[in-house]
Amino acid sequence: MSDATIESVLHESRLFAPPEALAATARIGSMAAYQALADQAEADPDRFWGDQAREHLHWFEPFHTVLNWSDPPFARWFEGGTTNLSYNCLDRHLEGPRANKTALIWEGEPGDGGSYTYRELHSEVCKAANALKALGISKGDLVALYMPMVPEAAIAMLACARIGAPHSVVFGGFSAEALRDRLIDGAVKLVITADGGFRKDKAVALKPAVDQALAEGCPTVQQVLVVQRTKQPTAMEPGRDHWWHELVAGQSSDCPAEPMQSEDRLFVLYTSGSTGKPKGVVHTTAGYNLWAHLTFQWIFDIREDDIHWCTADVGWITGHSYIVYGPLSNGATTVMYEGAPRPAKPGAFWEVIEKHKVSIFYTAPTAIRAFMKNGREVPDQYNMSSLRILGTVGEPINPEAWMWYRDVIGGNRCPVVDTWWQTETGGVMISPLPGATPTKPGSATLPLPGIAADVVDIDGSSVGVDEGGYLAIRRPWPGMLRTVHGDPERFLSSYWQHIRPADGSYIYFAGDGARRDKDGYFWVMGRVDDVINVSGHRLGTMEIESALVSHPAVAEAAVVGRPDELKGEGIVAFVILQGDCHGDAELVKSLRQHVGVEIGPIARPDEIRFSDALPKTRSGKIMRRILRALAAGEKVSGDTSTLEDLSVLDKLRSEA
Ligand code: PRX
Repeated sequence: MSDATIESVLHESRLFAPPEALAATARIGSMAAYQALADQAEADPDRFWGDQAREHLHWFEPFHTVLNWSDPPFARWFEGGTTNLSYNCLDRHLEGPRANKTALIWEGEPGDGGSYTYRELHSEVCKAANALKALGISKGDLVALYMPMVPEAAIAMLACARIGAPHSVVFGGFSAEALRDRLIDGAVKLVITADGGFRKDKAVALKPAVDQALAEGCPTVQQVLVVQRTKQPTAMEPGRDHWWHELVAGQSSDCPAEPMQSEDRLFVLYTSGSTGKPKGVVHTTAGYNLWAHLTFQWIFDIREDDIHWCTADVGWITGHSYIVYGPLSNGATTVMYEGAPRPAKPGAFWEVIEKHKVSIFYTAPTAIRAFMKNGREVPDQYNMSSLRILGTVGEPINPEAWMWYRDVIGGNRCPVVDTWWQTETGGVMISPLPGATPTKPGSATLPLPGIAADVVDIDGSSVGVDEGGYLAIRRPWPGMLRTVHGDPERFLSSYWQHIRPADGSYIYFAGDGARRDKDGYFWVMGRVDDVINVSGHRLGTMEIESALVSHPAVAEAAVVGRPDELKGEGIVAFVILQGDCHGDAELVKSLRQHVGVEIGPIARPDEIRFSDALPKTRSGKIMRRILRALAAGEKVSGDTSTLEDLSVLDKLRSEA
């Protein structure tokens, strides 16, 4: 065993009890309380979820059926009921003292910023909702957001929800090409964007990417609403493009929330899968709202005076659920930060915590590993005594990073909640409860009440203690995705047909591998499909391959992940060139750039290896297992007897 492995094993075997003071006041303050809730959910799921929905959401009309599972795996939750997410996040807080409580604190990268009380946010959202109506948007129309991290992003999301126009937020780091794919797939009517945003002390333009996407043909998009953020020169097309500050400011701040059916579409969010183009994950109104609300309350044990900061981008599900909807539905104060730590400002995050007295901090393991590399001298310069709970999300966290986070950022006082979930699950599924669950560094611990998570084999049977298997969910839950936009077949094949129980029942396949230890704790090992996780960003290897193959010099490409100390996984591409092309440094640069244009900078391969053949089975399937081993510099082991041409292996080895 190497020193690092020994250290890892030592950390993994440690157990941290919740701080006594926290357990004494927490909503769920003991394992007995957790177990009682979990047992209740298990014994009578309909009653459990029905009670939670009645308690935590406002209903214009009550629902008559908790779960309709008559056409599995297409679930319908809270049928008959009408509610509105924007109402639950805003209006219902206006009656008491929360009306003047800070809802949103915004910190811009150049040091500007501001805040909104619940009353102010409500007013801004109503104005934006009326502006959407003025642009001809009505219930059911899909609106895309391509935004920097400015308050108008949250305001626009809430405005869409208010009038029942589903949103499709596209991460501002995606390219014009990737944006266009999503606009076309969703038949989007309106795009909300900004002139640009600040990133690493520079103004980065966004609007030109929208112009480019539309110029290449997005017939359904009729209007563009543009927030002025950076004030850089921006071309505006008369009749099509409108400035937010001109259109929204003049609107009435009265816009009643539209009563929405529980199963009305709330948003579409694209995420990568193992095949084809990214899929539009569909979430619906009541179930998503309930799950974002409940999970936020449980995993952060939210209190009235908490200041919550989630460092994600609103372009990802984490931003949807834990910057915007979960916190606001609970009447909490949420922080939104435009920037990122950068060489000129390595303490940027800690400054935000100190300045706003952040009490709950939620970030990604990749960020923690980068902070670790800079050393504790940076965070040690800031007063972070306001912190009481730390969270992580997006990728497995190595025990060393977990320990460092707890010690250096949390001063060994704050529980660390490692939260496992996905775009598809709407909210957290497996996580410690900070006042109840003893934690182990590197483990997401136990499923939340109501979540029937398990580790299973291909038949759906539970595997034994410490045996690896597929991470699966045995029962529907309110926050589950309902379908893949425009492609119900893909919904079936991606999530419900992989694990095949003999009794024909449906088990949700998450795409991750995991094991459970003797205490029932989950240890998530990472994806078992052709999806890679780079700095917490999910990318399909096939998407990157298609991007590479669309370059004129490339005949064929295979992409795999390899372990990366900082990013979790790095991207390695094996590329076969067209006949007369020569693989040199110039071409590597051009290919990386090309992938940046096709998808976005996050998808650029870290390494490109040119080859004249790929290891394939006799039926023509690329043997990625072999490429993964080669990319990681490991010995190729296991069965290679199905390989069509064994000499390929030697060539790939010698070329590496
Ligand atoms: O592989 C798992 C990993 O991120 C995937 C989901 O990615 P995405 O839909 O982009 O959502 C990310 C934010 C929820 C999962 O299939 N993942 C997420 N959280 C964890 C994790 N892997 C291990 N531990 C986690 N806590």
